[in-house]
Amino acid sequence: MPTYAVTGATGHLGRLVLDQLLERGVAPADVLVLARTPEKAADLAARGVQVREADYDRPETLGPALAGVDKLLLISGSEVGGRVQQHTNVVEAARNAGVSRILYTSMLRASTSTLVLAPEHKGTEEVIAASGLSYTFLRNPWYVENYTDQVATYLAQGTILHATGEGRIALGTRPELAEAAVVALLEDVEGDVVYELGGPSYSIADLAAAITEVAGRSVEAEAVSAEELTAALTAAGLDEGLVGFLVTVDRNIADGDLDNDTDDLARLLGRPVGSLADAVRAARVEAPQTV
Ligand SMILES: NC(=O)c1ccc[n+]([C@@H]2O[C@H](COP(=O)([O-])OP(=O)(O)OC[C@H]3O[C@@H](n4cnc5c(N)ncnc54)[C@H](OP(=O)(O)O)[C@@H]3O)[C@@H](O)[C@H]2O)c1
Repeated sequence: MPTYAVTGATGHLGRLVLDQLLERGVAPADVLVLARTPEKAADLAARGVQVREADYDRPETLGPALAGVDKLLLISGSEVGGRVQQHTNVVEAARNAGVSRILYTSMLRASTSTLVLAPEHKGTEEVIAASGLSYTFLRNPWYVENYTDQVATYLAQGTILHATGEGRIALGTRPELAEAAVVALLEDVEGDVVYELGGPSYSIADLAAAITEVAGRSVEAEAVSAEELTAALTAAGLDEGLVGFLVTVDRNIADGDLDNDTDDLARLLGRPVGSLADAVRAARVEAPQTV
């Protein structure tokens, strides 16, 4: 049995990946969890997997962490701005350790997208492609949870303010994307593979309709200009950097950067991607009580 290593296993996606690996019958002894803070992975160690320290910023931890690894799932880091160097450190260590395949959680159409987050994923993909390692790019869509985590706020406000225009968003839940990553990790393929992942694309109006249907309380999508959204988010007390990021993402969505027309995610899952209403239901948010 090959040895699988997973970075970012203390995060949301990584924990779901580990669940899937074990549910699919991979022996815990064949799974290595790589964690920048091994103490945070104590509950994972209790499941029988080996935990090794691996900090993307500390190359000296990466060589020992990757010794004996056959396939590596590199879950992209969370420190925006420093990730190409961080991921490069991992790729170099993987090549030196003789890893047979690296799988990387990238972003939809990373090589051509104008999404504000795309350059670091494009940069990382280029580093991986130049490394000579066989690779699988898991080009993830927007997590549905980016929206469903805010259902309580949308219900309280009765509106979803947005500047996405007519833009549509291909969504996937973290559990679906974790499962797809594990299918890709376990599959026996030759050469390099690029998956454009994402379910059917939805508009913010579709999101509002799904929340209304599931919660039984009306939520409406309110389309505004980028300037109006900036003013509203600033008035709500968000800091300038976050406002700029959120407004830019909405503009990117309006430009079609998060739309997707492939069925790669459904093919990897072996079933249709869940609906938006399913994802809202999974968020299990109670409608606020009216007085
Ligand atoms: N597609 C989307 O909509 C979307 C949304 C958010 C994020 N993402 C990307 O997807 C990744 C996984 O998502 P998630 O929800 O699981 O994020 P998350 O919960 O924030 O998990 C990030 C993981 O990366 C680890 N990490 C961060 N910096 C590290 C470093 N220097 N060395 C080693 N490990 C490091 C974290 O370790 P600690 O536990 O020690 O912090 C954690 O395990 C994110 O990191 C981000 O790149 C995508």
